[in-house]
Amino acid sequence: MKPSTIIAHLGEDRKKNHGAVVAPIYQNSLFTFESADAIDDAFSKFETAYIYTRGNNPTVTLLEEKVAALEHGEACKFFASGMSAISASIFSFVEACDHIICIDSVYGPTSNFISEYLGKKFKIQVTYVKGDDLEEIKSATQSNTKLIYLESPSSGIYACQDLKLIADYAKSKGIHTIIDNTWASPMFQNPLDFGIDVVVHSASKYLSGHSDVVAGCVVASKAIITKIFKEEHQFIGGKIAPFEAWLITRGLRTLPIRMERHEKSTEKVIAFLKTHKKVKSILYPNNNPIAQKQMRGYGGLFSIVLDTDGQGARDFIDRLNLFCIGVSWGGFESLAYAPIISLSKEMSKEKLEASGIHPGLIRLYIGLEDAEDLIADLKSALDMIN
Ligand SMILES: Cc1ncc(COP(=O)(O)O)c(C=O)c1O
Repeated sequence: MKPSTIIAHLGEDRKKNHGAVVAPIYQNSLFTFESADAIDDAFSKFETAYIYTRGNNPTVTLLEEKVAALEHGEACKFFASGMSAISASIFSFVEACDHIICIDSVYGPTSNFISEYLGKKFKIQVTYVKGDDLEEIKSATQSNTKLIYLESPSSGIYACQDLKLIADYAKSKGIHTIIDNTWASPMFQNPLDFGIDVVVHSASKYLSGHSDVVAGCVVASKAIITKIFKEEHQFIGGKIAPFEAWLITRGLRTLPIRMERHEKSTEKVIAFLKTHKKVKSILYPNNNPIAQKQMRGYGGLFSIVLDTDGQGARDFIDRLNLFCIGVSWGGFESLAYAPIISLSKEMSKEKLEASGIHPGLIRLYIGLEDAEDLIADLKSALDMIN
């Protein structure tokens, strides 16, 4: 089945649900049994049985079956947030004093989790690499390297890693690989096809698509998901609520057409931005040869560098009328953000100047509004920059 058909029909048992076209929400913590034999039977199929909603719940299973199929994986587990899915999958592959190779432009909290939390509590070491050169990854490898963590394209600077090359190398060394595939969504990239072991998503972004859910998921082989289910999912307990799972299944129904629209509108907006004299450069991975090898399309998140200072960047986002100011993305609404705002709180003035981050850097996310309206809004804000 192709993605749109998977989303519409896979896992739906309408006969069992009195013909209801939309599956109901199983809003219960507990499942009860007719006999001792029945509960005994359930415990012998613990990974898939419905016993208690911290483990499995039919509303969540329906979503997991669809997302596993969309990512070309054998199984999927949903979590309460993207970070919950990310931390559970990293925990599953490392022990105290192990070593992780991670790309240096990885999502900030993932980086902090690895180097600050795991580093301080469990003496786990990390080497950050750019990720676009296998030789750099080879020389970073140590005898205790257990995991290579990727994000391609990364959500900050849209850096890309060659998934097949890295997966083949990691397999030859017995090292596991995880990729955060949130930027691309399963519509535009399926990393498991290239030999990557685990895909994680922040489902708070495109999968749910309506800016009304925080959730995450892990997709991998049955063996890996069963291990994560029995250990990190059970013990740390970051389960998704049935209602959130139902909302994501609802949002997922339009994922293919939403992604098509994000991509088309983004192309139009970028074509306009390229013509404006106040836009110095555009960061978007569509011309990256690595991305072209492994992706089928590109999403709505990108960055521009404006020919202005930090105050000019703030003024620019203040002048936009159709772009909301905010940090997330993947919903219906267009967004603008000037990273200088949070960076100037996290770094000293000297460190920020030394970092080379341009004060006119703006992150834009193109939502589902009309592209011509968005272009007009951007034009009027750009025209006002001194
Ligand atoms: C690329 C990426 N990965 C993971 C996350 C974390 O997801 P969540 O906010 O659902 O925990 C985010 C959130 O912004 C993200 O942008």
